[in-house]
Amino acid sequence: MQEHKLNRRIFLKSSGGAAAVVGTAGAALVPGAAQAASPAGSTSTNLNYPKRSVGKAGGMPVNQAVGFSYPDASSPCVALRMGSAVPGGVGPNKDIVAFSSLCTHMGCPVAYDGGTKTFKCSCHFSIFDPENGGQMVCGQATEDLPKVLLEYDAKTDTVAAVGIEGLIYGRQANIL
Ligand code: FES
Repeated sequence: MQEHKLNRRIFLKSSGGAAAVVGTAGAALVPGAAQAASPAGSTSTNLNYPKRSVGKAGGMPVNQAVGFSYPDASSPCVALRMGSAVPGGVGPNKDIVAFSSLCTHMGCPVAYDGGTKTFKCSCHFSIFDPENGGQMVCGQATEDLPKVLLEYDAKTDTVAAVGIEGLIYGRQANIL
C-alpha cells in the first residue's frame, strides 16, 4: 500500500512537470503563440501589424456593418459605428469598433444583425456582442471575436486598423 501511494505521488509529480515542459516548448515552437495567449485587454504585441485606413468616421453609417480586410486580404473584418459610446470605441463619439468576421468556433463568417446589435453565426448559432468587445454570448464558440485595434485621427477624421487582440480563426499567428 505504501509502495502504491509512493508510485502514485511520483507519477503525478512527474507528469505535471512534463506538462509544464510541453506547454513551454509548444509556445516556443509556434511563432506568435505568446502574443495569442496574451490576456484579454492587453494590447502589447511583438507582431509587426500594418496601419491601414478603415474609412472616415463621419462617413460610416450608424449600426451598419462596414467590411474590410485586415491585416491581410484573407482576413475579413467588420467595422461598426454603434451610435453611442462603447468600451474600446474610437472616433469623435467613441462608438466605432471592429472585429474579425470569422467565427471563433469553426471559422464560418458571422453576420451583423442591427436589430439585436449582435454578430450571429449561421453555422452553429454562436452570438457575439460588439458593444462588449466581441464577447461570446452563446453558442458553440468558446472564444470572443478577435478585436481589431483602431486609431482615430481627429485632423483627418480617419479610422485606421493598427492591430488585433485575439487570434484570427485558423491561424497560428495573426501576421502570416
Ligand atoms: S462556426 Fe460559428 S458557431 Fe460554429
